[in-house]
Amino acid sequence: MGHMNVNTLNAVGISGSPSARSKSRTLLEHTLATLGERGASTRLIDLASLPADALLGRQRAAEVDDALAHVREASIIVASTPVYRATYSGLLKVFFDLLPIDGLVDKTAIGIATGGSPSHLLVIDHGLRPLFSSVGAITTPTGVYGTDSAFENGVPHHSLVARIEQAATEAVTLAERVHAAHAAHASAGLPTSSTLVES
Ligand SMILES: Cc1cc2nc3c(=O)[nH]c(=O)nc-3n(C[C@H](O)[C@H](O)[C@H](O)COP(=O)(O)O)c2cc1C
Repeated sequence: MGHMNVNTLNAVGISGSPSARSKSRTLLEHTLATLGERGASTRLIDLASLPADALLGRQRAAEVDDALAHVREASIIVASTPVYRATYSGLLKVFFDLLPIDGLVDKTAIGIATGGSPSHLLVIDHGLRPLFSSVGAITTPTGVYGTDSAFENGVPHHSLVARIEQAATEAVTLAERVHAAHAAHASAGLPTSSTLVES
């Protein structure tokens, strides 16, 4: 299966904001750049640019199939979203609804959200973390939550940049551990977590 061929450090970012000047996407871009500095290859999927009918599962589209293929090949998934009605956006939700149940097994996930108010900080732990778990990902202990007031002229406050660096460090460590565990299990002929899910 594809999981065995996952590159050690291949990061895919998924932007769940429909906004052209998205703050959550800015944090996603920072995170991908940070992962890039640590040796990861990176790619950003902007869900707002994908055809809506295919995102809603009404029909197939090559762009959406490509996005799903990139997610399959990644070892690190970074998802960013605005807080909408106290949780992640519908755009992010419909994309995750297209993933198979084991779609993020053996992948490490970082959750990023921005909101108008600090009150919805728990979208990281009560929204994104269970979303990632539902498709098998291991989420970094550190998530990134920014309020709109933490941006000045579109530039995030340095405390947010520090969170991003912490989350990126954790993601690289976890992705390398998953890769090492796979290699060890494969050489011992033992089942891996993806083969357990598939059986
Ligand atoms: C439809 C809608 C619903 C929103 N709901 C919330 C909310 O429940 N809690 C909150 O803190 N902010 C809420 N906001 C504010 C956005 O989360 C906030 O401006 C966010 O930074 C936008 O991110 P973006 O620039 O990446 O799109 C809402 C905004 C919109 C447009």
